[in-house]
Amino acid sequence: MTKTVLVLNGPNLNLLGTREPEIYGSDTLASIEDASRKRAENLGLAVEFRQSNTEGDLVDWVQEARLSYAALIVNAGAYTHTSVALLDALLAVDIPVIEVHLSNINQREEFRHHSYVSKAADGMICGLGGFGYELALESLARTLGSLKED
Ligand code: DQA
Repeated sequence: MTKTVLVLNGPNLNLLGTREPEIYGSDTLASIEDASRKRAENLGLAVEFRQSNTEGDLVDWVQEARLSYAALIVNAGAYTHTSVALLDALLAVDIPVIEVHLSNINQREEFRHHSYVSKAADGMICGLGGFGYELALESLARTLGSLKED
C-alpha cells in the first residue's frame, strides 16, 4: 500500500507567490504542492498538503498524523519560533518528521534562529525555496523504504 506523507503549512503560507517574493520566491503553495505530488509519485509515495493560519489546526493535524500517516513534513511558518504546543504535539509522534523552510531562517532576524519544531524533527531543510519540500520527500522515501531500487 502506498505510504502517505502529510505536509503541514502554517500561517501566511497561503500567500506564497505574492508575499515578500524577494524572500520567499514566486512559487505559490499550489505549485509547490503540484511539484511535491509529482516527486512523491516518482518516489513511490503519496502526499497530502494542508495549510492553516491557526495554531490549533496544526496541533490537531499532527495528532491525526500519529494514527493515519507514514511521515510528516512541517513548515510551521511563524509558529516555528513560538509554539510549545506544536512542539509537544510533535514530540508525541513517533513517525519521521522533517522541518522545511523556504527561506534560510539562520540568515534572517535573530528571533527566527530558534525553532521549537527542530527539537522534534529528524532533519531540517531551509533556504532552498519550494524545492526543499521535494528534498524532504527524497529523504523520507529512503527512511520509509518506498524506493523501488531499495
Ligand atoms: C518560514 C520562515 C518563518 O520564519 C516565517 O515566519 C514564515 C515562513 C519559511 O518557510 O521560510 O512564515 O517558515
